[in-house]
Amino acid sequence: MSYSKKTNKFPEFLRSKCLFLLVVMVSCSPPEEPVKCSTKNSNCTITNSYGTFADRAVCRAGNVAFPTTEQELVSIVSAATEAKRKMKVVTRFSHSIPKLVCPDGQDGLLISTKYLNHVLKVDAEAMAMTVESGVTLRQLINDAAKAGLALPYAPYWWGLTIGGLIGTGAHGSSLWGKGGSVHDYVMDMRIVSPAGPKEGYAKVRVLNERDKDLDAAKVSLGVLGVISQVTFKLQPLFKRSVTYVTKNDTDLGDEAMTFGKLHEFADIFWYPSQRKAVYRIDDRVSSNASGNGLYDFTPFRPILSLALALLRSTEETQESLRDADGKCLSAKLVTSTLRTAAYGLTNNGIKILLIAGIIFTGYPVIGFHDRLQSSGTCLDSIDDSLITACAWDPRIKGEFFHQTTFSIGLSVAKSFIEDVQKLVALEPKALCGLDLYNGILMRYVKASSAYLGKQEDAIDFDITYYRSKDPMAPRLYQDILEEIEQMALFKYGALPHWGKNRNLAFDGVIKKYKNGGEFLKVKNMYDPSELFSSEWTDQILGLRNGITTMKEGCALEGLCICSQDIHCAPSKGYLCRPGKTFQNARVCTRVKIRN
Ligand SMILES: Cc1cc2nc3c(=O)[nH]c(=O)nc-3n(C[C@H](O)[C@H](O)[C@H](O)COP(=O)(O)OP(=O)(O)OC[C@H]3O[C@@H](n4cnc5c(N)ncnc54)[C@H](O)[C@@H]3O)c2cc1C
Ligand SMILES: *[C@@H]1O[C@H](CO)[C@@H](O)[C@H](O)[C@H]1NC(C)=O
Ligand SMILES: *[C@@H]1O[C@H](CO)[C@@H](O)[C@H](O)[C@H]1NC(C)=O
Ligand SMILES: *[C@@H]1O[C@H](CO)[C@@H](O)[C@H](O)[C@H]1NC(C)=O
Repeated sequence: MSYSKKTNKFPEFLRSKCLFLLVVMVSCSPPEEPVKCSTKNSNCTITNSYGTFADRAVCRAGNVAFPTTEQELVSIVSAATEAKRKMKVVTRFSHSIPKLVCPDGQDGLLISTKYLNHVLKVDAEAMAMTVESGVTLRQLINDAAKAGLALPYAPYWWGLTIGGLIGTGAHGSSLWGKGGSVHDYVMDMRIVSPAGPKEGYAKVRVLNERDKDLDAAKVSLGVLGVISQVTFKLQPLFKRSVTYVTKNDTDLGDEAMTFGKLHEFADIFWYPSQRKAVYRIDDRVSSNASGNGLYDFTPFRPILSLALALLRSTEETQESLRDADGKCLSAKLVTSTLRTAAYGLTNNGIKILLIAGIIFTGYPVIGFHDRLQSSGTCLDSIDDSLITACAWDPRIKGEFFHQTTFSIGLSVAKSFIEDVQKLVALEPKALCGLDLYNGILMRYVKASSAYLGKQEDAIDFDITYYRSKDPMAPRLYQDILEEIEQMALFKYGALPHWGKNRNLAFDGVIKKYKNGGEFLKVKNMYDPSELFSSEWTDQILGLRNGITTMKEGCALEGLCICSQDIHCAPSKGYLCRPGKTFQNARVCTRVKIRN
């Protein structure tokens, strides 16, 4: 079990459950390992926590190594460098959707950070904390809190590792301070990269805030080497007060511009087809304010597999019958349930399954930051029989989705929002499907000095929607979703989240980064033989063509933007057409066939 005795209260809980379950001959099983090997640690396949990469690539590696110390890590990188082997870092859960983790070929080396999971130093005086890169966000938050410290902004899901989340530029939501991205709170970093024979084929580079290289290493997509340790600048632990307010979305464009400046932890759930937006009014309060609130976000809780299967079957049926009304009905059910359950907030942390709404005594919810900033109790799912699981666990019939996630400069975000509203006016039911995944999550991020970080203050839009198990199956209102995706990327120059999205979002992406060239220089210096690079990382960094592939049905899963009908699904009536409001878009539209 990766959580140390001191880390938090869950191990006790887990241990007793596991013991109990052992008696009935079931063992304790959190999500599956992303790496599976046919012989001990060799001849491996690698996947992500959803069991499927954006383009459904099947990835293989020669073997996997599990260093437990930086010293072991150095000797592993050294041996592989001498042997000129391709390498990639794999984390305990592997949450990224693009195939960043895949080494080229069949016999690359995977270096797992599963056991590089120690908190090394917590300095309450200096308000700094040093962790190994495989430490999860959950561990970091808990250990910091024990020392009276806090990471001010973080992703909302605590199953991510430090190496993975900074490597892909992950963030929470804030325009305050240095903004919502975790990598902007990095003070020092130790990174192990290849070296020549004179240096023993590997070296540890120690970077601090005075090194320009740190701006490359912060969001480095795994191509500079293995991040071994990271030191964060923290703050004294504080309390927050959270209130959700639901309004119609008529003035969302204007509101979104100012809301993030008014509230430190502001974010917005937007349900465009319901014409509603839920504003999170969330600020620091005095630490003597009373309250011991807890945010255990409902969609990240363990969910009954039977319920997940039912929801998925319903959605599959709605998709196959093109039942837009059914989806809009489901959407209302989902969002009103979440709202009643206060999205998983409780005033005192007392959780009662299924009746969370009843014990919720109302807003505001006040509590310590560490109990509100992030969650993910489904990682503690306790049974091999998978009675409960994370909603997207590939071992059960559950959620399967695309995630289109991008940030749009604050100055033009209003115009983007209004463009989406125009589409909804044309096709009112088109975006009901998003609400089954709690709508569009809008979060604030700030310009970063990281070369591959945000280029300007922006709103990040997180859009999750149905993905068919069949890659050749078109989806309901596919055209509208594709138009929004292309409008964001091309009309508004949006930056895709490095750890999410479909392949097309990364076509030409490096041109959107003014210091992309600086990043490549550092990459050349750290790893001149490109052992940590792959075809995919070369493609997203603009060093190689071929991000999109034109073939039958390629637009259905975002492998291309259609230019001919065959890229859609002509036999099912989906043809390649211009967008409805963004004429430059090319989308798969269902053309009504007259009989
Ligand atoms: C339920 C859920 C909620 C999420 N919520 C948010 C959110 O609120 N905000 C947000 O921004 N994102 C969010 N994400 C996306 C997430 O931030 C990214 O997918 C994240 O990068 C994954 O982290 P990971 O530890 O799983 O890394 P992986 O996906 O395993 O790795 C990502 C990349 O980093 C590399 N890497 C990992 N560790 C190291 C290391 N030590 N040294 C060098 N390279 C390394 C890997 O090789 C890979 O290339 C969420 C994802 C999920 C599944
Ligand atoms: C490697 O694993 C695959 C299955 O993943 C198997 O078919 C193959 O025989 C294995 N090869 C060796 C050399 O073990
Ligand atoms: C939206 O709410 C505002 C008040 O906040 C109101 O003036 C307006 O009429 C509402 N619009 C719709 C379409 O209901
Ligand atoms: C908290 O303390 C401040 C002074 O530090 C005081 O003004 C305020 O009333 C206190 N609030 C509560 C809720 O006790």
